[in-house]
Amino acid sequence: MQVRFGIMADSHIEFMHDGPSRVRAFLEACKEEKCDFCVDLGDFCPPGEMGAAAKEEIRTLLRTFPIPFYTVLGNHDMDENRKSDVRAFLGFEKQPYSFDLGGVHFVFPDTCFYREGAKEMAYDHGNYRSTHGAISVLPSRELARLRTDLAAAKHPAVLFTHHSLIESRTGIRNPHSLRNAIKDAPCGVLLCACGHEHVDRLSEKDGTYYLCINSMSYYWAGEKYDHTTYGEAIEREHPLLRMVFPYRDPLFAIVEITDGAITVRGRASEIVGMGPSEMAFTKKGLSDPITAAITDRVLPIGR
Ligand SMILES: [Fe+2]
Ligand SMILES: [Fe+2]
Repeated sequence: MQVRFGIMADSHIEFMHDGPSRVRAFLEACKEEKCDFCVDLGDFCPPGEMGAAAKEEIRTLLRTFPIPFYTVLGNHDMDENRKSDVRAFLGFEKQPYSFDLGGVHFVFPDTCFYREGAKEMAYDHGNYRSTHGAISVLPSRELARLRTDLAAAKHPAVLFTHHSLIESRTGIRNPHSLRNAIKDAPCGVLLCACGHEHVDRLSEKDGTYYLCINSMSYYWAGEKYDHTTYGEAIEREHPLLRMVFPYRDPLFAIVEITDGAITVRGRASEIVGMGPSEMAFTKKGLSDPITAAITDRVLPIGR
C-alpha cells in the first residue's frame, strides 16, 4: 500500500470570518505534500445566504483545484437544504461511493439519517433536530450498501463519515451493526475517520482505528458562553463567532498509508481569546479535552 491524502473536517465556512483562507491553506498543503487526493468530512459549504461570498470563493477554488477532492455530508450541510442541493452546489453529484487507490479501498458511507419510530429519515432542512436524541444512524439500506461494497473490495478499506462509527457522545446510534459489517469484510477495515465532534481523538477496536478529525475552525461553546473574541465589527457580520472557541490557525492533517503503518501528520494551534478553562466550560457527557490540535500519530498495521 502506498497512498497519501489530505483530510479536513467541520470548517463551517458560513460561521467564520476567514473561512476561505483556512480552506486555501489546506489545499496549498495538499499540493505541497503531493497528495493523491483530499477529503473533507462535512459541515463544510452548503448553499444558503449566510456567508454566501465566502462559499462562492470556495466553489471557485474547488473548480480549479488540480487534485481530486471528495466530501461527505455533515448535519449542518442540511440545515437549510436537501442532500441533493448540497451535492449540486459543490459539484459532487458524481462522487463515487467508493474507489481504489494505492492498494487501499476508500468508502464514503452517509451517516446523515435519523430514526423516527421505525422510519429511517434522511436529514433534510434541519428535520433531524425534531427528535430529541436521534442524532444519527446508519440506516439498514446504507448498512446493506456498505456490506455489499466491502464484500467486493480487493483491498483493506478506509471509511470516511461525518459522524463517529464507534461509540461516542454524538456518534451513530447503531455502532454494533456497523462493527459486524466490518468484521465480515474479507480484506478488513484499517481506519474509520470522522468529523462532527470538533475534537482530536483516536480509538481502536478489533484491529480497526477510529480517528476523529478535529474541526478546521473551532469548538462550539454555545449561547450560555457568549463572549467576544474578535470585536464588534467582525462579530456583527459573523455573530456565531461569539459562541465558539476559535482556533487561530486552520487544522487539518496529511495521512499516509503504507504496508506498515498509517501515519497522521496534523497541525497544532491555539484557541483565540477566552478558552474553556477561563470560561469554566462544561458540556454534559463530554469526556474529550478541547484542544486546537490534530495530533501526529503512527498507527501500526497488521500487528
Ligand atoms: Fe461541525
Ligand atoms: Fe456536524
